[in-house]
Amino acid sequence: MSGEPDSTAVRTALWRALHTLVDDAPHVLEDRIGLEIAGVDQGWQTRPDMDPMRTRPNRASIVARARAVEDTLIASGACQYVVLGAGLDTFPQRHKGPVRVFEVDEPATQAWKRDRLVQLGLLDPERLHLVPVDFEAGESWLAKAVEAGLDTAEPAVVSMLGVTMYLTQEAISTSLRQAASLAAGSIMVFSYSRPIEMAPPEVRPILEGAAKGAAASGHPWLSLLTPDQATNMARDTGFTGVDVITSTDLHERYFAERHDGLSPVGGEDLVIATVGRHRVGSG
Ligand SMILES: C[S@@+](CC[C@H](N)C(=O)[O-])C[C@H]1O[C@@H](n2cnc3c(N)ncnc32)[C@H](O)[C@@H]1O
Repeated sequence: MSGEPDSTAVRTALWRALHTLVDDAPHVLEDRIGLEIAGVDQGWQTRPDMDPMRTRPNRASIVARARAVEDTLIASGACQYVVLGAGLDTFPQRHKGPVRVFEVDEPATQAWKRDRLVQLGLLDPERLHLVPVDFEAGESWLAKAVEAGLDTAEPAVVSMLGVTMYLTQEAISTSLRQAASLAAGSIMVFSYSRPIEMAPPEVRPILEGAAKGAAASGHPWLSLLTPDQATNMARDTGFTGVDVITSTDLHERYFAERHDGLSPVGGEDLVIATVGRHRVGSG
């Protein structure tokens, strides 16, 4: 069995499972496969970072961002999906269909996940292509995904969820620029966390605790972005259409009908950026 997975990737997978176990139905996302892949001890729900009440905003935000991307992918009709910083994402295991998935992740976490998928009989090499890349090492995720079979003549949806805060701004821009060079009609969705002082006062202590926890676990937050910074990065790296979906928008979209108070407000926003047909310099 290879090494250890990234602890932040395991945590978000456990939050997705926790949502199905402790929150009322209908669930925003049904995903317990990540819990299976994580292979954690039975007592995982007693971990401090799984406290059902205290972590409600976190897990609401994590399921909302995943659901929003998957809805975008399905609505787009694209047959290629690139998941940057995939962690324990389980789209190919939960959705049967024609979409080929390219999961890009830091090599050690991905090697560990590959072993787990093989052990569990969950790796379908026709649909899921595993592409090991360290975004901070100057490697091109795009070149490696093309080697793995990504067709740059066809549109793709690219996601990057829960990753930008762990990267330098240079690595974020480099990764976005590669996505912006994909075929016209391609869509990039990435999440970003705002600077803590922009969060509602009741959410700030949770974020401050999370920032300390992240640093202590060896995954410090390197890039917190304002909505303007995030959209400027998308425009500067070559996308034509750039929109923000705030955590309040996500609430309206997926939580407004709920009566249990679960809400992603104050969590991550999303940028949805499209590759246009008439890009500057593209003739
Ligand atoms: C918080 S997890 C999010 C995982 C998944 N996208 C989700 O929403 O559950 C962050 C992911 O980013 C990946 N990551 C962080 N830094 C990276 C880097 N420099 N290169 C490649 N992947 C990286 C980690 O391996 C991990 O899978």
